Amino acid sequence: MHPWIADRTTSFDSSGIRKVFDLAAKLKDPINLSIGQPDFDVPEVIQDATVDAIRSGKNAYSPTQGIAPLRERLLAEVRAKYPGQDRDVFISSGTSGGLVLSMLSMINPGDEVIFLDPYFVMYPALVRLCGGVPVKVNSYPDFRLDPAKIEAAITPKTKMILVNSPANPTGVTATEDDLRDVADLAAKHNVALLSDEIYSRFYYDGDFASPASHNPDTIVIDGFSKSHAMTGWRVGYVHGPPEIISTMLKIQQYSFVCSPQPAQWGALRAMEVSLDGHIDDYRRKRDFMVQQLSPHFELTSPGGAFYLFPKAPAGETGSAFVERAIQDGVLIIPGNIFSDQDSHFRISFAADDETLRRGAERLIKLAGDNSCSIC
Ligand SMILES: Cc1ncc(COP(=O)(O)O)c(C=O)c1O
Repeated sequence: MHPWIADRTTSFDSSGIRKVFDLAAKLKDPINLSIGQPDFDVPEVIQDATVDAIRSGKNAYSPTQGIAPLRERLLAEVRAKYPGQDRDVFISSGTSGGLVLSMLSMINPGDEVIFLDPYFVMYPALVRLCGGVPVKVNSYPDFRLDPAKIEAAITPKTKMILVNSPANPTGVTATEDDLRDVADLAAKHNVALLSDEIYSRFYYDGDFASPASHNPDTIVIDGFSKSHAMTGWRVGYVHGPPEIISTMLKIQQYSFVCSPQPAQWGALRAMEVSLDGHIDDYRRKRDFMVQQLSPHFELTSPGGAFYLFPKAPAGETGSAFVERAIQDGVLIIPGNIFSDQDSHFRISFAADDETLRRGAERLIKLAGDNSCSIC
């Protein structure tokens, strides 16, 4: 190792997803079911608002906490949703920026952070970066946020419970009852509850539920990356207890500085854009993929996000199946990138209908089943 490299960087690897993308770069015209962002473009009115911001000279640093109109708009929304709670809000550099600042603000070396396995790739890496200890709670085979399993993982060193519903990579949504029980557990044990709600808009069956409704000290992270296909624009937001928010802002001041100002003006316009059509479309894509694949793979139907997390065929690891799929031109992600276990794989259904149809057909054939209805 190069002598200049700090020890803290050796406690985690770079994201395995990048390795899959490198493999993919060698394929000609792959069927790409690996992408973690919507297949629609940023709505035009949002693009226009951002271009207008640039052209009218809104190109400087914004205040650390974000431009006032966007902050005020978000704060009004948060206050309406959580009446009577003392919550402050700021604009972060994407949801990832909010996650980084949360960890830096709350995790001391040796602190334990509980989250479900499978998990979003950043969680263990960020916990380790702060010297914390990731405590992964096995949620196979149904990926449920089971309050009893969370409680069993709590120790005197637990500092934070991190929940993500709808979840990446499983798409599974936690029930209101389970979220309430986990929210109560966090309060009972006086540990931080961090809720990553980046997929809150992609919710297909019923209304979105947040643990913040049941625990006013919950720190919530959300953003515009997925909802409005703005992944490259870096606009997220965090709301929670004012003292935690001001600590996060202190670090934002010396790190991210601010979310890009023109993109924040775009996000303000995004708040007026209805996503109903897109959500209906994604519900239909979810239904199609579940209907096609569930006779051939062990699969939990996802209530949100745009991922499926099927089990590889019997006798095969997730990564071995993915290797075969990639050789056959279908890009999917091995489950062991998101898990300590190598038994599943992630499919993103954020793709056009023809890609989904061709992808499902190939995957069914790879599962060794030639009786598929669309082949
Ligand atoms: C669960 C989860 N949290 C956070 C992020 C990061 O989102 P952003 O682009 O807003 O940083 C992602 C992106 O894939 C995600 O899946």
